Amino acid sequence: VTTILGLCGSLRAASLNAMLLRALARLAPPGIDVRTDAGLGTLPLFNPDLEPLDPPPVAALRARIIAADALLIASPEYAHGVSGVVKNALDWMVGNESFVDKPVALLNASPRASIAQAALRETLATMSARVIERACVAVPLLGGNLDEDALVAHPLHAPALGDALRALAAAAGTR
Ligand SMILES: Cc1cc2nc3c(=O)[nH]c(=O)nc-3n(C[C@H](O)[C@H](O)[C@H](O)COP(=O)(O)O)c2cc1C
Repeated sequence: VTTILGLCGSLRAASLNAMLLRALARLAPPGIDVRTDAGLGTLPLFNPDLEPLDPPPVAALRARIIAADALLIASPEYAHGVSGVVKNALDWMVGNESFVDKPVALLNASPRASIAQAALRETLATMSARVIERACVAVPLLGGNLDEDALVAHPLHAPALGDALRALAAAAGTR
């Protein structure tokens, strides 16, 4: 089984990015297990002084990232940047190298939000993660009226999301 951990950059209850990750978990073909409970909101704010103490939420996330074969990152764009929630999580993982050579797919719930995606790519390249381009998908959820069930049943988006998962799992298998 290929284990994929989804990191959601929004803490909003009605988050479109969280919905996208939940839809991917439901669309995962047999042999691919997508987890959406990474809990980035439980991390303290990054402070290098705390790194030697290895705060339990940080240790737990690091262990789950290391155990995962691949990662999905779904982050909103806030004021032309990546969300602080995602950046905070990434900053905690820089020093422990859990992202090195990790296959990562970027999800985007708003195709006009391209600046944050570019910033995320730059950060991930610096962390030596492996962004798998053919597994990256933008789904125009912002301003639309698709709910999770409609997304999972969508004639175009559902197959595209399934293909993205298969591409990510294939990349993870060639590590
Ligand atoms: C404070 C704030 C700033 C935002 N800035 C941008 C932006 O610069 N570009 C953009 O495309 N969308 C921007 N948005 C729209 C969000 O990306 C959009 O609402 C997205 O759906 C939020 O993600 P979520 O639904 O997962 O919570 C902003 C939203 C907020 C609340």
